[in-house]
Amino acid sequence: MVKTIVEKITRNVYLLRLDDDQTRYFEAIWEIPEGVTYNSYLITTSEGAAVIDGWKKGYGELHLETIRGIVDPGDVRYIVVNHTEPDHSGSIKTLVGSLKNATILGHNIAISLLNAFYGVAERVKPVNDGEAVGLGEEVLRFYHTPWLHWPDTIFTYYEKERILFTCDAFGSYGIPSKIFYEDLPVAEKELFNRYTRKYFANIIGKHAEWVVKNLDKLSKLGLKIDVIAPSHGPLHREPNRIIELYRELGERRVVKGKVVVVYTSMYGFINEAVEILVDELRKRGVEPVIHRFDDKEHSLISEVITDLYDAETIVFGAATYDADLYPIGKYILEIMKAKTKGVGKRLVVISSYGWGPVAAKKIKDLTSDMGFEIVDTVEFKGRTSEARIRELASKITS
Ligand SMILES: Cc1cc2nc3c(=O)[nH]c(=O)nc-3n(C[C@H](O)[C@H](O)[C@H](O)COP(=O)(O)O)c2cc1C
Ligand SMILES: [Fe+2]
Ligand SMILES: [Fe+2]
Repeated sequence: MVKTIVEKITRNVYLLRLDDDQTRYFEAIWEIPEGVTYNSYLITTSEGAAVIDGWKKGYGELHLETIRGIVDPGDVRYIVVNHTEPDHSGSIKTLVGSLKNATILGHNIAISLLNAFYGVAERVKPVNDGEAVGLGEEVLRFYHTPWLHWPDTIFTYYEKERILFTCDAFGSYGIPSKIFYEDLPVAEKELFNRYTRKYFANIIGKHAEWVVKNLDKLSKLGLKIDVIAPSHGPLHREPNRIIELYRELGERRVVKGKVVVVYTSMYGFINEAVEILVDELRKRGVEPVIHRFDDKEHSLISEVITDLYDAETIVFGAATYDADLYPIGKYILEIMKAKTKGVGKRLVVISSYGWGPVAAKKIKDLTSDMGFEIVDTVEFKGRTSEARIRELASKITS
C-alpha cells in the first residue's frame, strides 16, 4: 500500500511525500525491495502557493487531494517541474486540470516533454538559468543543472527559507522513518548511506562528470542553503555532508582495496574457480564483495552496479555460451559501460569454455573503451587449475 506523509518542514513549506512500496523495479530495471518516495513540496504564502515537483503516474488524484487539504486549489500560482521523468511529472496532468490559476514552470526541454508525455501545452512558461518568479516578496529562483538526471533538470531555490529543491540530485531509494536524514537512528542512517549510493550508481552514474560540473556551478553561486530537499528519500539539514558525498561519487573515486567479484556459473566451473580465488584472497587479508548468478541464486543487478561503482578491483567471471559471452554477463557489462565505467579500476577476467572459447575475448572487447587496467585473464577448458587461480590472487593483492 502506498502511504501519504504531509509534514511542515518550515513555517510555510510542506513536504508532500508519497511512500511507494509497490514499485519493485525502478525504471523497470532496478530492484528496490526498500521502496522509494516521491517528494513534492508546497510553498504557501499570503500571495499564493507554489507546488514543486509531482508524484508518479497513477497518483495524480491523490496528489491533488493532498494539496487541497492544505490550500485552496485556486491559490496555487505555480507548478514547478524540476525534471520531467514520470516518477515526478506523472501527477502534473491532473494538477493542471484542477489548479486553474497555476502557471507551469520548467526548463525548455521540460516544457517540450510535458507536451510530448501528457499533451500539457497551455499555461506553460519556460524558465532560463538564473531566472526568478515572485510570490509577493518571496522569490523562487531556478538554476539549470543539466543531466541531474536529464537534460531538462533544474534546481529551485527558495531564497526566504534557504531551501534548495534538487529533484533527483541528492536523492535516495528507501522509505525513511523520519523526514530528515539527520534525525534517522544510526542504523537507519547507515542504510540510507547505501541507498543514496545505490540510487546514484543506478540513476545518476552515467552522468557523473555533470555532477562535478553542477557542483562547481552551485559552489560558485554561493547560495546560503539551510535545507537540501530532494524528490526521493530524506531531506538534508547538513548540506555539506551530502554535497561532499556527491563530489566523491561524481569524481568516481574508488574505495582503496575494495574487490568485487561478479560471476555467472551454469554448472559450477567458474564457481569452483571463484571459490579458490576467494579462499586465497581471504588468506591474504582481502574480503571481497561477491555477486553470484548461478542455478540457485541471482544477485540484484541494482546492488551489483552499486558495488561495482566504487570498486577498485573487479573480478568478472562468465563462460562461453552459444559461441558468445553468457547473456547475463553481457547484460552486466552493458550496464557497466553506461554507469560505472572503468577509469581508475582494475579488471580481472575469468572464463571457461567447452569447445570454442569466445567469452574472454568478448569481455575484453566490450570493456576495451571503459578505461580499465586489465590485471590478468584466466580462461580454461572446463575446470580450472587451482595453481593458476592462486597465482591470480597474488596478482590481485600485489
Ligand atoms: C547452453 C550451453 C551453451 C554452451 N555454449 C558453448 C559454446 O558455444 N562454446 C563453448 O566453447 N562452450 C559452450 N558451452 C560450455 C561451457 O562454456 C562450459 O561448460 C563452461 O565450463 C561452463 O562454465 P560454468 O558452468 O561455470 O558456467 C556451453 C554450455 C551450455 C550449458
Ligand atoms: Fe529522474
Ligand atoms: Fe526521480
